[in-house]
Amino acid sequence: MCGIVGYIGEKEANDILIAGLEKLEYRGYDSAGVAVISKNNIININKKKGRVEILKNLTPLLGTYGIGHSRWSTHGVPSDRNAHPFTDQSNQFAVVHNGIIENYLELKEELRNEGVEFSSDTDSEVIVHLIAKNYQGDLKEAVLKIIKRLQGAYSFCVIKADGHEIIGARNGSPLVIGLGKKENFFASDVSAIIEHTRDVIYLNDFQIARITKENVEVFNFQGEEEALDVREVNWTLEKAQKQGYKHFMLKEIFEQPEVIKETLKVPIHVQNNFSRIIMVACGTASYAGLVGKYIIEEVAKIHVLYEIASEFRYKENLLTQNDLIIVISQSGETADTLAAVRLAKEKGAKTLGIVNVVDSTIAREVDERIYTRAGPEIGVASTKAFISQLIIMYKLAFHLAGKEFDANGVVEKIKETLAKHEEIRTLAQKYYLYQNFLYIGRNRNFPLALEGALKLKEISYIHAEAYPAGELKHGPIALVSEEMPTLAVCPRDSVYAKTFSNIEEIKAREGKVITIATEGDQEIKRVSNDVIYIPKVEEILYPLLCTIPLQLFAYYIAECRGCDIDHPRNLAKAVSVE
Ligand code: G6P
Repeated sequence: MCGIVGYIGEKEANDILIAGLEKLEYRGYDSAGVAVISKNNIININKKKGRVEILKNLTPLLGTYGIGHSRWSTHGVPSDRNAHPFTDQSNQFAVVHNGIIENYLELKEELRNEGVEFSSDTDSEVIVHLIAKNYQGDLKEAVLKIIKRLQGAYSFCVIKADGHEIIGARNGSPLVIGLGKKENFFASDVSAIIEHTRDVIYLNDFQIARITKENVEVFNFQGEEEALDVREVNWTLEKAQKQGYKHFMLKEIFEQPEVIKETLKVPIHVQNNFSRIIMVACGTASYAGLVGKYIIEEVAKIHVLYEIASEFRYKENLLTQNDLIIVISQSGETADTLAAVRLAKEKGAKTLGIVNVVDSTIAREVDERIYTRAGPEIGVASTKAFISQLIIMYKLAFHLAGKEFDANGVVEKIKETLAKHEEIRTLAQKYYLYQNFLYIGRNRNFPLALEGALKLKEISYIHAEAYPAGELKHGPIALVSEEMPTLAVCPRDSVYAKTFSNIEEIKAREGKVITIATEGDQEIKRVSNDVIYIPKVEEILYPLLCTIPLQLFAYYIAECRGCDIDHPRNLAKAVSVE
């Protein structure tokens, strides 16, 4: 993953780069660094293990252009030494890189044999040494030369000590150019530069760009100049700030009524001329896809397969031109999901992307796209994007059935559920010391159990496993004890009685049960230690309501445990490596 920024202009680069990196921290926060070129053409670097804010305590580097990086480690442990930017041995070039250079061992060996000494354990460092080796007076030409040697997915930026330019290259990992007045930018995504400009160019794969203070040029990997496709970003910085909430995650949970309202307005125009639908996604987005499978099969009577993108991309899917591949992605940059799109297109299948980030790579590459209207999601654990994906799943299911989706006051019911936050917080105080949790649900509630367990794992580091409630007796029930509570998703729906019996089986084995149940359900209290009530709605809408307590429960448990909720360890929000 990693976040990249570049600035060239008339202002001091140091602070602009650091502020940009702070916005990109969701992409990784193992280490951070900036390289700035001084007036007398010297590359100065500040880099440190840990969060971006550490850079603020170091003496600011003076100069009006430079590059910066926040790291999510792939090769080499998080450390000062493995932090970007990297320089060549003569300190003439500096590079920041996002992605993986798959053939780095071979390149490293080759460079070592030529006498190059490496200063890190990363794959990225080979780039800067290759550039230094191939430089013959023109940095862009050197980059064009060395990209022929690089295998894998990457975007990188490079500066030269006396260059007065930044070169950026993209193949598989995102890179955006921001256009300003007498200043230009590079960034992994627009959030890093939106404070300065709304005019951006999204680089495509196999493009490189040269930016100077006054000018921007884009080329293909053959070195031919390409037209500039300038687009305007339509969201504001306020949307990407905490606005008084303790964490972005909490703010985003509470934004959900608004997000639902907005996403309900999204028009759906999908033709029903396919024989199968295959949902493909990763993480939380994949669970939205699984809810979609249940709902589309139920409402539209169309067969839907569900696939995890990292599996889908390497298996035989027997794809045909009659398949519709629906990919779901908040960021629109997830490497495995993007690979699924490319694979599907290669096989002639139709692709539909359900994406939150406008003009992201997946949004640009799919045949058709539907934008969720969650707004910028900053918390690493996805919440409001998930609910917006669910809304699109409902709209799609009803559209495919030739009907209108009637959300029937669901926004108000979601608000009522959110109002229970103090109650859920109190419950979290009771349960936060447990080390293991089971989550269960049946039918459409099963994907929610998966999502609830994922939320808990991600932000509180508690081990949580989700199962279809009926599957419990085939193994996991052996885990049930006083030490392992179960969270059961059991609203009053067509499988209520079945899930109820499973809860009873857990109680009979002295397991503690917290149940998400429908308001007015007194019976459920008999088999539950604690109940979180949600308002009564039409059966099919329960997944929307059940989502809220699952998110809040995970959030408050993580809060009780003192976790860094917006920056959970080892994770990153946009996963642009496979
Ligand atoms: C990462 C994030 C998850 C997210 C998944 C898919 O793992 O931490 O929150 O669900 O990627 O991301 P996408 O942007 O494709 O929805």
